[in-house]
Amino acid sequence: MKMNRIFLFQWLPLLLLLIFSKTSISVKPHKIPRLTPLLKNILKDFNTLSNSSTTLPKEFETYFYTQTLDHFNYGPKSYSTFKQRYIINSKYWGGSNSSSPIFAYLGAESSIDNDPLSIGFLTDFAPRFKALLVYLEHRYYGQSIPFGKIEEALKDEDRRGYFNSAQAIADYAELLLHVKEQFSAPNSPIIVIGGSYGGMLASWFRLKYPHIALGALASSAPILYFDDITPQNGYYSIVTKDFKEASESCYQTIRDSWSIIDKIASTKDGLAYLSQKFKTCSPLNNSSDLKGYLDSTYAVAAQYDDPPRYPVTVICGGIDGATNGSDVLDRIFAGIVAYEGNKSCYNILPGQTDLGWDWQTCSEMVMPIGRGENDTMFYSAPFSLDEFIEDCKRDYGVSPRPHWVTTYYGGHDIKLILHRFASNVIFSNGLRDPYSSAGVLQDLSDSLLAVTTRNGSHCLDILTSQPTDPDWLTMQRNREVEIIEGWITTYYADLKVLKNGTMT
Ligand SMILES: *[C@@H]1O[C@H](CO)[C@@H](O)[C@H](O)[C@H]1NC(C)=O
Ligand SMILES: *[C@@H]1O[C@H](CO)[C@@H](O)[C@H](O)[C@H]1NC(C)=O
Ligand SMILES: *[C@@H]1O[C@H](CO)[C@@H](O)[C@H](O)[C@H]1NC(C)=O
Ligand SMILES: *[C@@H]1O[C@H](CO)[C@@H](O)[C@H](O)[C@H]1NC(C)=O
Ligand SMILES: *[C@@H]1O[C@H](CO)[C@@H](O)[C@H](O)[C@H]1NC(C)=O
Ligand SMILES: *[C@@H]1O[C@H](CO)[C@@H](O)[C@H](O)[C@H]1NC(C)=O
Ligand SMILES: *[C@@H]1O[C@H](CO)[C@@H](O)[C@H](O)[C@H]1NC(C)=O
Ligand SMILES: *[C@@H]1O[C@H](CO)[C@@H](O)[C@H](O)[C@H]1NC(C)=O
Ligand SMILES: *[C@@H]1O[C@H](CO)[C@@H](O)[C@H](O)[C@H]1NC(C)=O
Repeated sequence: MKMNRIFLFQWLPLLLLLIFSKTSISVKPHKIPRLTPLLKNILKDFNTLSNSSTTLPKEFETYFYTQTLDHFNYGPKSYSTFKQRYIINSKYWGGSNSSSPIFAYLGAESSIDNDPLSIGFLTDFAPRFKALLVYLEHRYYGQSIPFGKIEEALKDEDRRGYFNSAQAIADYAELLLHVKEQFSAPNSPIIVIGGSYGGMLASWFRLKYPHIALGALASSAPILYFDDITPQNGYYSIVTKDFKEASESCYQTIRDSWSIIDKIASTKDGLAYLSQKFKTCSPLNNSSDLKGYLDSTYAVAAQYDDPPRYPVTVICGGIDGATNGSDVLDRIFAGIVAYEGNKSCYNILPGQTDLGWDWQTCSEMVMPIGRGENDTMFYSAPFSLDEFIEDCKRDYGVSPRPHWVTTYYGGHDIKLILHRFASNVIFSNGLRDPYSSAGVLQDLSDSLLAVTTRNGSHCLDILTSQPTDPDWLTMQRNREVEIIEGWITTYYADLKVLKNGTMT
C-alpha cells in the first residue's frame, strides 16, 4: 500500500508505491504509501522479469468470472455484473479425491498480471502440498474494472461507491466457492495469501469467511495503521532506524540536509543552484518537490530493502563514499546516483498517480502516517486529518470515513479481542519494513502467529525464492509452511471425524 496521498512515487505498476497527489496544495505530505510488492523494484533487484507485459507460462490459465457488482443490496442496480479476472494453475493439484488444498492469492491494489511469477510462495510450495493455485484480481484494478476504464469508473460517483474492501473480499468469497465447485473439491481447504493491503484482506477474509478459508498468510499487513492505534510517525521512524543502522553518518547527513535545502532555496538563484546540483530534468520551481522526491526515495528504499542489493546500504554507500571535500548536498546527490545510477538528468517529478488507491485512501483506507519535528531524520510533516478530509472532498465530493476500518474489522485491543475468537492467521513481517510498525508482531494465540525477521523488508517472504536468499529468509518461509501444514493436518483429521469423510 502506499502512504500519504500527496506524494506519489514513480515505480509504476502498482504494487506499492508512495503517491504524490496531484492536488497537493500544502507542502505537507499526506501520502499513504502503497502496500503491495512493488513490481519495478522486484524487477530491478532480481531481474527475473524484464517486462510488465510478460506472458505467463501456459500452466497459468486466465478466466473471467461474472461477478456481482453489489453484494450487499437487493435493489435492481445491485444485480449488475462485471468480469473479474482470475488465474488458475492446476499443474501441482493433487485432485479432489484427496481433498488437496487450494492456495488463493488475494490480489491487492494492482493488476495481477505478474503476480503468478513474482509471488513465488505459491509456486515454490505447491508441489509439497499438491496445491491448486488461484490468483484473484481485486475489483477496479487490472482487467477487473466494472464498466470500462478505471478513469471512467472512478468518474461515476455511483459506480465508484462499489469500490471498497468489503465488496472485494465478498468477490473473493463468491469466486472461491465457484472454483471449488468447478473442481468438484468441496472438502479442499483453502489457504488465502496476501501481501501489504492484500495481506490485510487475507487476515480480514479469515475473520469474515472462516467457512471458506481455513487459514491466512498475511504478509506485511499493517492492519493497525488505523485510528490512533499506531503512532503517526511509526512508518518514518522505521525508515530512520534503517538508515541509522546502515550508517550513523549517513543518517546524520540526511537529517542535516533538509534545512540546508530550504536555506539555499530561499536565496536568489538558490533554486537554479539546486537544480544544477541535483541534475534535475526540469528546473525546480520550489524546494518541496525536491524534498518530496528525496523523502520518497528513502522511504521506498527502506520499504524494499531487499537482499541481495539492500538499497538503503547502497544509498548510504553513496552518501558516505563521496569524495573528501564534498558538502552535505554533494553527498545526498551521491546517494541518489548510487541508487538510481549515473544518469544525464534526474526526473524528480512524481510518477503517475495511482487512481484506484487514491480513491481507496480517500474513502476507507485512511492511514494517518506523518511525523513531527525532530522525531525522525525527516522534516516535519504531521498528518492532518482535517486537511486530508478537505483534499478528498475536493477530489471526490465525499468525506473519507477514517473510523470505518476499525468499526468493520476491528483493530483496537487486538489480542484481547481475537485471542479466543480467531484462529489460523500468520502475520509475517520484516522489521526493516516501515509498515511493520503497524503489523502484528507478537503471537495473539496458539494459532494467530507472528513470524518476523529482523532484517526483512516489505512482503519479502511471499516473493519467489532466489539462490541469493539469506538463511533467515529461507527459515521464515519454512516456518510459515510448517504452520500451514499443521492447520491442514488438523483439518483433515477433523474432516474425517466430523464429516465421516472418505479421504484417501
Ligand atoms: C517485452 O515484451 C515484449 C512483448 O512480449 C517483447 O517483444 C520484448 O522483447 C520484451 N522486452 C524485454 C526487454 O524483454
Ligand atoms: C475419484 O474418486 C471417484 C469415486 O471413487 C473415482 O471414480 C475416480 O476415478 C477418482 N478419480 C481419481 C482421479 O482418482
Ligand atoms: C516548474 O514549472 C514549470 C512550468 O510550470 C514546469 O514545466 C516544470 O516541470 C516545473 N519543474 C519542476 C521540477 O516541477
Ligand atoms: C512546487 O512546484 C510544483 C511544480 O511546479 C507545483 O506543482 C507545486 O504546487 C509547488 N509546491 C509548492 C508548495 O509551491
Ligand atoms: C578522505 O580523508 C580521510 C581522512 O583524511 C582519508 O582517510 C580517506 O582515505 C580520504 N578518502 C578519499 C576518498 O580520499
Ligand atoms: C557519469 O556519467 C558522466 C557522463 O556520462 C561521466 O562524465 C561521469 O564520470 C560519470 N560519473 C560517474 C561517477 O561514473
Ligand atoms: C528540533 O531541533 C532543532 C535543532 O536541534 C531545535 O532548534 C528545535 O528547537 C527542535 N524542535 C523541537 C520541537 O524540539
Ligand atoms: C541484520 O543486519 C545487521 C546489520 O547489517 C547485521 O549486523 C545482523 O547480523 C543481521 N542479522 C541477521 C539475523 O541477519
Ligand atoms: C463412518 O461412519 C460409519 C458409521 O458410523 C463407521 O462405521 C465408519 O468407521 C466411519 N468412517 C470413518 C472414516 O470414520
